[in-house]
Amino acid sequence: MGVKRIDRIISGKPGNEDKPLDNSLRPKCLKDFIGQEKVKDNLNIAITAAKGRGEALDHILLYGPPGLGKTTLAGIIALEMGVSIRITSGPAIERTGDLAAILTNLHSQDVLFIDEIHRLNRAVEEVLYPALEDRALDIVIGKGPGARSLRLNLPAFTLIGATTRFAQLSPPLRDRFGAVYRLDFYDQKAIEAILKRSAGILGVKAEDSGLKEIACRARGTPRVSNRLLKRVRDYAQVVSNGNVGRKAALEALSKLEIDPVGLDDIDHKVLHTIIEKFNGGPVGLDTIAASISEEADTIMDVYEPYLLQLGFLERTPRGRVATILAYKHLGLPYNKDKPPQPTLL
Ligand SMILES: Nc1ncnc2c1ncn2[C@@H]1O[C@H](COP(=O)(O)OP(=O)(O)OP(=O)(O)O)[C@@H](O)[C@H]1O
Ligand SMILES: [Mg+2]
Repeated sequence: MGVKRIDRIISGKPGNEDKPLDNSLRPKCLKDFIGQEKVKDNLNIAITAAKGRGEALDHILLYGPPGLGKTTLAGIIALEMGVSIRITSGPAIERTGDLAAILTNLHSQDVLFIDEIHRLNRAVEEVLYPALEDRALDIVIGKGPGARSLRLNLPAFTLIGATTRFAQLSPPLRDRFGAVYRLDFYDQKAIEAILKRSAGILGVKAEDSGLKEIACRARGTPRVSNRLLKRVRDYAQVVSNGNVGRKAALEALSKLEIDPVGLDDIDHKVLHTIIEKFNGGPVGLDTIAASISEEADTIMDVYEPYLLQLGFLERTPRGRVATILAYKHLGLPYNKDKPPQPTLL
């Protein structure tokens, strides 16, 4: 069941339909990358300084919810540095030998991008430490008493790690990044600008009023906004000559069953469960997940961050709590401060 959910329209995770779209809409340079101003400013300074010195960039960790532009930024950093990028992911590097092969094939100043870096296994991580710190690879030749350890020097490379789960990264790995950037959800204006840019690239005739309606339902996530734009474009092509105006956008979006703030039925189920089954919380994530037959991981990566961002959910040491804003949004009476009603037998 959890697998099917990943293809949901509001999920920030990439689905199969996104692949061709992602590539054509992906900004290629820092100037085209919309929003995340602080991250961009810092990166710009770091890149300019490193280039000025003719050195490799410090190792960088990018973290934040899916679909906010981590992979995109990694590509941009390499391009701005004028170096090659080698892309891999935590689960793809199974053995220490795999990592050794990747590292020894890098050229000076190259970028190595490891997506989902929290999923690297321990043995591989241990090999990565000296590579990051001393730019060296320790390899053992032979077995038993005759085994010798050999230290190979590596080219000065830059590791860019990306993760949706900062907390799952082991502290020694975390400490080896020179810069750690957190990507936040985009504000409405930035999403509108992203939609405008995407509409231009896709050749969609779109009115600002139409794009506004899409933007407020995009959960502050560029990947979701692009996906919604594509769906609305299809609808507009059939009913309104391809023109994405406010009316066509609203009709298309209501067919997708996304509410005015971008919540879908699973978000609603999460909130209703906390409020109705657990009197508003606190309730543990696993309990919520079990009650709605959803995977705890999916709730944590896809649903919870946005509900937290909207202020509909709070994380407390005892579990998740629905806030008064959530009650209001669902049109439910907020009676948390009153004692529970005595039930009739
Ligand atoms: N700042 C931006 N400006 C314009 N488009 C963007 C921006 N950030 C992301 N996008 C669009 O969103 C899509 C998804 O971004 P990206 O693949 O970089 O996300 P991600 O954070 O790597 O997600 P995941 O965690 O799933 O790997 C890209 O194809 C791109 O079109
Ligand atoms: Mg990515």
